[in-house]
Amino acid sequence: MRTTTSRLVRLSCGLVAAVAFLGMGTAGAEPTLERGRYLVEGPAGCGNCHTPQGPDGPVADMGLAGMMVEKNDMFTAIASNITPGSRVADWTDEQLGRAIREGIRPDGSIIGPPMPFGLYRGISDDDLMSMVMYLRQVPAVDHDPGQSVYNIPLPPAYGPPVISVAEVPHGVTLEYGAYLAGPIAHCTECHTTFGPKGPMFDTHLGAGGFEFHGPWGVSVAPNITPTRLAQYSDAELDGMIRKGVRPDGARMLPPMPYGYLAKMTDEDAAAITLYLRSLPALPDSGQ
Ligand code: HEC
Ligand code: HEC
Repeated sequence: MRTTTSRLVRLSCGLVAAVAFLGMGTAGAEPTLERGRYLVEGPAGCGNCHTPQGPDGPVADMGLAGMMVEKNDMFTAIASNITPGSRVADWTDEQLGRAIREGIRPDGSIIGPPMPFGLYRGISDDDLMSMVMYLRQVPAVDHDPGQSVYNIPLPPAYGPPVISVAEVPHGVTLEYGAYLAGPIAHCTECHTTFGPKGPMFDTHLGAGGFEFHGPWGVSVAPNITPTRLAQYSDAELDGMIRKGVRPDGARMLPPMPYGYLAKMTDEDAAAITLYLRSLPALPDSGQ
């Protein structure tokens, strides 16, 4: 497997550290199906774009079979069928991983927006392979959701080739919270103010303002820096993130992936809260 080499290099570079790591029994030491299931069905919520939605939520027996996610002047984006019933079954693990992390298919073509590649480029090697392991064994669905149309030029790539991304130690830490809120759950993709080139991570991280149009009308991703979040207790914040319910009991609007975030562990949710509370307090960006 592709990741073996990098893991061996890491192991030989830090044998002492590696032994201590194994001794602690820390989760995430290597790709596993369980980890992949947790990420894809939990915080990463790939199905929020890739699973067909009916009036009552995700359509049964159509998990990850593809659907139209966004139609605007710039594009009609149709999230592909990524079950083994699609062409990805013919791709190697490495090719599927590259498509997910870098947005490049085996034939060299570029996967268009709104899949958040700017952040997915930071998915660790082990988490990426765990996701691939999970995708390989979901039920194959024979479904063609159709072809996206992009009226805007797509970039030749979303950045230089990603060689390797090291594992971030799991725990209720700022570092792991940042990893979850970024490359895994892409909270910051939706909640960072958009500029001409996409989310302005450098200057408007978490400042909000992006509008989502859908059957629900219009929802706006709010500021999730301390400027706005300071008013909420940790429990209230958790209720909004993992249950989609406001402190006053009101249900929140799509497309935030509440159903997927609900499957997040207490520890991971706490790491995200810790991270959000540490962000520089920015003013609401408005629209
Ligand atoms: C915000 C929506 C969104 C999210 C979240 C998302 N995707 Fe996608 N994905 C898309 C769209 C749209 C396309 C097709 C784009 C195109 O036609 O160029 C796509 C394409 C793909 C492809 C290429 C398939 C092919 O046959 O070309 C793969 C593989 C993929 N996604 C995997 C994933 C995985 C795994 C996750 C979760 C870690 C994920 N996606 C999360 C929207 C999304
Ligand atoms: C696909 C886009 C999307 C993603 C991904 C997303 N959100 Fe949201 N979020 C929204 C939208 C839209 C709203 C507003 C919902 C409403 O108005 O009812 C929202 C609301 C919130 C709120 C309520 C803030 C307030 O004061 O009203 C919090 C907190 C929040 N999101 C945190 C997160 C966190 C943490 C993550 C990642 C684990 C995340 N969001 C992922 C789109 C997103």
